[in-house]
Amino acid sequence: MTTESVSVLIKSIAGRLSNAGISDAGMDARLLIRHAFGWSAEEQLGRLPDPPPVAKLDHLEGLLARRLEREPLQYITGNVEFFRRRFNVDPRVLIPRPETEQLVVQAIEFVRSYRIESPRIADICTGSGAIAISLALELPSAIVEATDISVGAMEVASQNATALGAEIELYEGNLLEPLKSKFDVIVSNPPYILRGAMADLQVEVTREPALALDGGEDGLDVIRPLLTGIRGALKPEFSAAYIEIDPPIADAVLQLAHQQFPNASISLLADLAGLARCVAIEFG
Ligand SMILES: C[S@@+](CC[C@H](N)C(=O)[O-])C[C@H]1O[C@@H](n2cnc3c(N)ncnc32)[C@H](O)[C@@H]1O
Repeated sequence: MTTESVSVLIKSIAGRLSNAGISDAGMDARLLIRHAFGWSAEEQLGRLPDPPPVAKLDHLEGLLARRLEREPLQYITGNVEFFRRRFNVDPRVLIPRPETEQLVVQAIEFVRSYRIESPRIADICTGSGAIAISLALELPSAIVEATDISVGAMEVASQNATALGAEIELYEGNLLEPLKSKFDVIVSNPPYILRGAMADLQVEVTREPALALDGGEDGLDVIRPLLTGIRGALKPEFSAAYIEIDPPIADAVLQLAHQQFPNASISLLADLAGLARCVAIEFG
């Protein structure tokens, strides 16, 4: 590894990552270096002309080897930013995606627009707890309950809640089954990838838990019972459910939602790329 300067080191690592077919190689190189050397972004910027700390180069090489094997960067650094907060992640949980922040925004807007004072909110399939914890911190008067069927995910969500100072109630179990209350808002980012598309996933995505991704033959294995469960768990008035979906299954989910909730206002919400990413079911 070059010891000329941090700037040259970044270029050399970015080149190795790019040659391995990794997109965003420059960004990954900077983040790996920051993580290996324990630097903030500002510190890294200030040290660009300096030689890198030689004692930490072996550690950096080890992290780089993992990334070259296509391990997701966030599992290597152990964290990801979601809704302006840092969440710990490891291979027990899906890495929260930026588009999922839309569920948080929708839930907050609904609660505020109806001035619901102490909303009871459920996050089903919570994974790292990113959605539930964000909502608990953004809406301090809310009671937030979350479920996941994975014991490992429960552990990660619990650690994140403690680290971020969020009070949420976590339940291990299938969808809404562990919950007894009626909710003002239910949010969920369930597994929804068509089984036939699982083989075409980016290598990094295949390192995430299959339980978090695989939606079965038609992508609806989890969404179908989730919609049934939501029907019995939402308060009859001034309540809403927001479910993240994969664009290819949008029409099928919309049809199911109309069958389950004939009296609700139902719509598809697009992500920043203009793709149908969330189904909104609202009772005014
Ligand atoms: C797509 S991940 C979403 C994680 C997190 N909510 C996020 O957005 O980053 C789906 C999660 O659903 C969980 N899961 C899968 N089947 C489930 C079920 N039947 N009941 C509850 N959780 C389930 C998985 O363990 C995984 O953590």
